[in-house]
Amino acid sequence: MKQQIIPTSEQRNVPEGELIVSKTDLKGKILYCNDVFIELSGYQEQELLGKAHNIVRHPDMPRIVFKLLWEHIQNGKEIVAYVKNLSKEGAYYWVIAFVSPSFNGEGKVVGYHSVRLKPKKEAISKIEKIYSQLVSAEKEGGIAKSQTLLEELLKKEGASYEEYILSL
Ligand SMILES: Cc1cc2nc3c(=O)[nH]c(=O)nc-3n(C[C@H](O)[C@H](O)[C@H](O)COP(=O)(O)O)c2cc1C
Repeated sequence: MKQQIIPTSEQRNVPEGELIVSKTDLKGKILYCNDVFIELSGYQEQELLGKAHNIVRHPDMPRIVFKLLWEHIQNGKEIVAYVKNLSKEGAYYWVIAFVSPSFNGEGKVVGYHSVRLKPKKEAISKIEKIYSQLVSAEKEGGIAKSQTLLEELLKKEGASYEEYILSL
C-alpha cells in the first residue's frame, strides 16, 4: 500500500550537472537508484529498493504522460519527459527524464532505466501550464480527454511529442 503524502509548496532543486539515475524491472519496481536520487526523494535506499516507481509520483502529473512513457518503453523505444516528483516530505522537484528499455545480449527487454537532469527554468513554467490543463481534462473526461488535448496542442505546434519536449 502506498503511503499518503501531502504535497507542499516546497521546491527541491536538482543539483546542476548531476545525473539522477534509477533502474527498474519490467513492472517498474526499483532495482537501483543512485545517491542523488535517494537524497532528492528523501527516502532511505532500503525504502526505495523493491518498491513501485510511483513512490515518487506527484498528483500534479497527468496520467497521459505515464501512459506515453509506458507505451514507448514497452515497445522498445526511449522517451523524454518532464516529470514533477514528490519527495517523502511532500516537497517537489522537477526533472527532465530520459527513460529507456534495457536490453540483454539477445536484444530482449529485461528492464528499464531512467537518467534525469535539472531542467531549464523556462521549460518548467511552460510545462506546468500544460500539465495543469491535462490534469483538469483528466478530471473531467479521463485520459481520453487529456490525450485529445495533447494531440491538439502538438498539432498547433506542428511538432511531434518528442520535438515539442526537446524544443522547450
Ligand atoms: C525506469 C522508470 C522510471 C520512472 N520514473 C518515474 C519517476 O521519476 N516519477 C514518477 O512519478 N514515475 C516514474 N515512472 C513511472 C511509474 O512507474 C508510474 O507509471 C507512474 O508513477 C504513475 O503511477 P500510477 O499509475 O500509480 O499513477 C518510472 C517508470 C520507469 C519504468
